[in-house]
Amino acid sequence: MPGFWSDRRVVVTGAGGFLGHAVQRGLIRREAEHVLVPTAADYDLRDRGAVGEMYADLQPELVLHLAARVGGIGANQLRPGELYLDNLLMGTYVIDEARLRETPKVVVVGTICSYPKHTPVPFREESLWQGYPEETNAPYGLAKLAQLVQLQSNRAQYGQNGVYVMPTNLYGPGDKFNAAVSHVIPALIKKCVDAAAERADHIEVWGTGSASREFLYVDDAAEGVLLAAEHYDGAEPVNLGAQQEMPIKDLVELIVELTGFDGEIRWDRTKPDGQPRRSVDPSRAAEAFGFKATTDFRTGLETTISWYRENKVEAEARTH
Ligand SMILES: NC(=O)c1ccc[n+]([C@@H]2O[C@H](COP(=O)([O-])OP(=O)(O)OC[C@H]3O[C@@H](n4cnc5c(N)ncnc54)[C@H](OP(=O)(O)O)[C@@H]3O)[C@@H](O)[C@H]2O)c1
Repeated sequence: MPGFWSDRRVVVTGAGGFLGHAVQRGLIRREAEHVLVPTAADYDLRDRGAVGEMYADLQPELVLHLAARVGGIGANQLRPGELYLDNLLMGTYVIDEARLRETPKVVVVGTICSYPKHTPVPFREESLWQGYPEETNAPYGLAKLAQLVQLQSNRAQYGQNGVYVMPTNLYGPGDKFNAAVSHVIPALIKKCVDAAAERADHIEVWGTGSASREFLYVDDAAEGVLLAAEHYDGAEPVNLGAQQEMPIKDLVELIVELTGFDGEIRWDRTKPDGQPRRSVDPSRAAEAFGFKATTDFRTGLETTISWYRENKVEAEARTH
């Protein structure tokens, strides 16, 4: 939809992050002409005054709200209070200032971490309210889910157009490989690449390997966000997934193979597995705005590993 992007002022919050870079690539492909990418240093979105200034200065007609405090299980366990409050405040202010200023549309990026711990697989959007999320990521997941309630309430009371998409676990080039915040795929890739380089005889991996996850290539997720901006104006939340569930044990074996590490895998069963299973039903996204993930998982992993090898210093320095 080239016409859609040619004359709209688009603000992408969190554009400097992992998903943000992929969204920027997608906007370049679409030849979007008025894209504004404020950083946290420009406007700290936890501060309502700063959010107001951002809207006043940049005058967006479309906001893609990606900014968040994000991390793997470790970060969620260490800083649940920060992850809760920062995410709650950012989303609350971005949505409410859009309402006050009658910004035509906001796309808010939620997370699969909002689903209840024991959601029937595949996760359907109707299951979001059927239980409490897995404990380690509940503060983050619920802070993000509050934004869905806010969008639906504002739509009902004020007619605000805000849509909410929920990607599964992301992976790809540009991911965060710093141990303080990394998710499972970058953490495993780093472990295996380091162990192979040091000729270590084993690696230790958190948990039992029995949990499962679904992984979405970051450029596929960005495509989902942009398609939702173009074609979706509904109140209901929408999963963005790749329709493949992978046990962590299989994931570890695949990363071991692709990185060339040939030692033993030792499972640290004192560490949490996180949510037992994760895989989403992607049909709403397909029906509502034609989204389908296209990146083959093995190919995506190979690309990610190559990127990491070529950008190790940068990849490990980034904490967001
Ligand atoms: N990564 C995943 O696996 C995953 C899965 C599902 C959903 N999501 C969602 O996708 C979105 C993007 O995640 P990501 O992995 O790309 O995150 P990320 O790499 O950690 O990037 C976070 C971005 O948020 C911005 N930010 C953080 N605090 C801010 C503040 N106080 N004010 C303004 N901006 C702030 C950062 O801005 P600066 O660069 O300026 O510091 C950064 O650009 C998030 O909403 C996340 O919940 C991610």
